Amino acid sequence: MSDWLGLSGRRAVVTGAGSGIGQGSALALARVGVQVVAIDRDDAALATTLDMARAADLPIDGVACDVTDSAALSRSAADLAAVDILVNAAGIGRAGSLLDLDLEDWEAVLAVNLTGYLRTAREFAPAMVERGGGSLIHIASISARHPQPGSGAYSASKSAVAMMSQQLAYELGPSGVRSNSVSPGLVRTPMTESYYQADGVAQRRDAAVPIGRVARADDIADVVVFLASDRARYVTGADITVDGGFSTRLMGTVPRPGFDG
Ligand SMILES: NC(=O)c1ccc[n+]([C@@H]2O[C@H](COP(=O)([O-])OP(=O)(O)OC[C@H]3O[C@@H](n4cnc5c(N)ncnc54)[C@H](O)[C@@H]3O)[C@@H](O)[C@H]2O)c1
Repeated sequence: MSDWLGLSGRRAVVTGAGSGIGQGSALALARVGVQVVAIDRDDAALATTLDMARAADLPIDGVACDVTDSAALSRSAADLAAVDILVNAAGIGRAGSLLDLDLEDWEAVLAVNLTGYLRTAREFAPAMVERGGGSLIHIASISARHPQPGSGAYSASKSAVAMMSQQLAYELGPSGVRSNSVSPGLVRTPMTESYYQADGVAQRRDAAVPIGRVARADDIADVVVFLASDRARYVTGADITVDGGFSTRLMGTVPRPGFDG
């Protein structure tokens, strides 16, 4: 079937597109004919994505912008033509247990991972509402449902993003704009690469996933592309877990005599 996705000629903004899942999503969308604007606060990372796009002859432009800077984001958005797709992937983590965490770290994570996603939705969704269609895709995490000790505000930020996405779906549904979140499990990206440098971690993490390996950015990006397309026209307010089965494992973590093995 030719052009099953029907995305050719659409326009997208992808945040956090200098690295990892955002970069993978920008490239995957561009490969199916979407005109992509890649946003990232890291100039060097953004340049890498643009180099990759140029080398593969893919239609990606870049805008250096920090999603926590409302004024800069508004200026950048004002310079862009209206888009059909917004992918929110810019994210950070700050380590700390909840009782000891510096509140500045708590606020910093929420400012990017939660309020940053809302800021971009407020910049780019109104034009979608006006035109009667569009797709908002927010990268959440399985951490939204499974707390990670010592990860500060990260799980709370992702849980809030999943709910924010549902509320956007409810509020914007009548205008034809869809909003969904994607919850990756373990993904090897620059954000997590340092874990995999420690002895044996890559093997142990691969073995912990029923599918037998941690994810690559493109495993997540393919789901983003589907949600961006009209093939997902009746999907809104959903959270799609993309974790190779990792989050199914709870009942297997305790002994159950007579049933083990
Ligand atoms: N890697 C994983 O295992 C994993 C799992 C679940 C969810 N996620 C989520 O996926 C998203 C992407 O993560 P990743 O692993 O690709 O991380 P990454 O660090 O490789 O990429 C994140 C990008 O976001 C950019 N960024 C950070 N703060 C920004 C800001 N204020 N303004 C603009 N750009 C900013 C960074 O410069 C970077 O290029 C994040 O929201 C993350 O929480 C990652």
